[in-house]
Amino acid sequence: MSRNGSQYQDLSQLRTPSNDGPTVLTVASGKGGVGKTHLSVNVAVCLADMGYRVLVVDGDLGLANVNVLLGINPGYHAGHLLDGTQPFDKVVDEIEENLHILPAGSAMVQMAELDMASQVRLLERLDLYRRPYDFVLIDASAGIGANVRLALAIAHQTIVVMNPEMTSLTDAYALVKVAFRSGCKGPFQVVVNRVRLAEQAREMHTCLSSAAGALLGLELEYAGYVYLDSVVERAMREQKPFVRVYPRAPASRCITTLAHRLVALNSGRKESRSTGGR
Ligand SMILES: Nc1ncnc2c1ncn2[C@@H]1O[C@H](COP(=O)(O)OP(=O)(O)O)[C@@H](O)[C@H]1O
Ligand SMILES: [Mg+2]
Repeated sequence: MSRNGSQYQDLSQLRTPSNDGPTVLTVASGKGGVGKTHLSVNVAVCLADMGYRVLVVDGDLGLANVNVLLGINPGYHAGHLLDGTQPFDKVVDEIEENLHILPAGSAMVQMAELDMASQVRLLERLDLYRRPYDFVLIDASAGIGANVRLALAIAHQTIVVMNPEMTSLTDAYALVKVAFRSGCKGPFQVVVNRVRLAEQAREMHTCLSSAAGALLGLELEYAGYVYLDSVVERAMREQKPFVRVYPRAPASRCITTLAHRLVALNSGRKESRSTGGR
């Protein structure tokens, strides 16, 4: 694939129809601060604990959230892959046996502003569909810019994260609309983070889904919720995933449930593989 990014009218052409290779899940929200990075990292830890091989791609090029959250200071990052100075295996960091991350690199302002052709080149070098993982989680950056649209286009499934607030609802709708117009027709899984009651999550999903159904003709699935929980901040200060240090906390239980649900949702793809989770 050596096409120029500008040639892609419909970004969904970038997605491989193949059932082999990893299931690519993009975690997006339309705005920052709703919990995408915590959700991506903690779901990844749960999937790794279940025996799946997982790669987390820090899509927040320029901010390097994922490694900050895990307390690691990687030697290389996506920029080295893009300019060809390091191969994939050197750039990827092994956190645990089954859990790898692809760091974004901190303060790389230029990475946040990659043009489409560079993004497509980075995608080619990532070669995600041919790497030996069961799941690739892309922690997308905030907003609905070109890099987010690309991350959505290459995903087998999009996880839309929102909070129980009206502003979050409109941001999530804007994201779904942009994704849809870029050729990404889902499936979309909605997760409501920072809820005090499970019913709040159902209500938020219903609001978003009704709007998407009426205005775009899109169905949005309900994937679950994560409780507002003080262990999230506490674990962040310790620079450890909360599911690891506080596995019995309400937020951790929600994440575990979500990870199992994502496995079940993608079991069709997994079953057809020769190297599924153990
Ligand atoms: N379930 C939760 N309970 C309490 N605080 C949370 C929860 N999820 C996220 N947070 C807090 O929200 C903030 C943003 O989370 P983050 O994952 O960085 O968001 P994003 O990646 O969407 O920008 C962080 O300060 C984090 O500690
Ligand atoms: Mg983030």
